[in-house]
Amino acid sequence: MTQSYLLENTMARESRKVAVIGAGNVGATCAFVLAERKIGNIVLLDIYEGFAKGKALDMSQGGQVLNYDGKITGTKDYSDIAGSDVVVVTSGFPRQPGMSREDLIGKNADIISQVGRGIKEHAPDSVIIMVTNPLDLMTYHMQRVTGFPHNRVIGQAGILDSARMTHFVSDAIGCSNEDVQAMVLGGHGDTMVPLPRYTTVGGIPITQLLSTEEITAISERTASGGGEIVKLLERGSAFYAPGSAAAIMAESVLNDRRRLLPCSAYLSGEYGMEDIYIGVPVILGKNGIVKIIELELQESEMMSLQSSGTFYKEQLKDILGY
Ligand code: NAI
Ligand code: 2OP
Repeated sequence: MTQSYLLENTMARESRKVAVIGAGNVGATCAFVLAERKIGNIVLLDIYEGFAKGKALDMSQGGQVLNYDGKITGTKDYSDIAGSDVVVVTSGFPRQPGMSREDLIGKNADIISQVGRGIKEHAPDSVIIMVTNPLDLMTYHMQRVTGFPHNRVIGQAGILDSARMTHFVSDAIGCSNEDVQAMVLGGHGDTMVPLPRYTTVGGIPITQLLSTEEITAISERTASGGGEIVKLLERGSAFYAPGSAAAIMAESVLNDRRRLLPCSAYLSGEYGMEDIYIGVPVILGKNGIVKIIELELQESEMMSLQSSGTFYKEQLKDILGY
């Protein structure tokens, strides 16, 4: 019994493969969280081969300490990502103090074109989870480069933005973050849309627990949450929460958990928008997005979401030429 359990467990682990492109701060954090969650076969790919190999070896050795034992390898060769069920893309430049995410468009679009071609050739059946900024634009670009179905190209932002709001709410109320569920939609930038009406503590909307002034301050701090960390770090941007958020998306796909999470998804009419990637609640399963959830929004909430969409639509046209 023990032996067959071990065998089944090993087979389940061996049958799942994740590639993480970019072995920097976010990529390595994502890979580490996945390793700890016993997602078996992880490949870290970076243009700096030794960097990827070194991190993979370090993480493999950490398995003895933390009791995980999947295979973790580093590479710069795309043929090593063959057979990946999920590819998490974190390759690209992070922002520095004074920069907006949109300032990264040109440099990161070239990197995403190159990475997209590698994924298309070597992992054509994978689900791609994008992290590279500016997130919603790079997710759109990746889908165009690979030509993958829209449900198989998804962006990570909403889990991070909602986690930031959750943190600020639990701080303000003085309760565990476990009981807080926040909801942040829209693009991953200054136009993001925190939704206090859909943010609850133990099922109670925060509109019943905090004053309007407190909620406004939390929403504003959430929207500038990434910039706050960039300023404090002085070099690079946040990675523990972002890397973990990408890992949670990967896990929901790999284990077909069908979690309902805010992610950057392709809209074809939902929320009155078309041909755009933007943050909305989705159900994530083994083929990526199973369903987009359309929340009932008040007029002002819908207007904020749509103006976030308009901002990114203009950027797609003016800067990326779509
Ligand atoms: P980092 O600089 O620590 O790591 C980036 C890695 O990408 C480096 O190791 C670099 O060698 C690698 N790389 C560059 N070009 C490559 C290529 N063509 N192929 C493969 N690897 C390549 O940066 P960090 O902090 O990990 O951030 C990565 C990206 O994620 C940035 O664009 C950042 O803005 C974004 N980000 C997005 C978040 C989100 O919520 N969507 C949150 C945090 C960061
Ligand atoms: C963040 O929100 C920079 O997108 C990155 O931390």
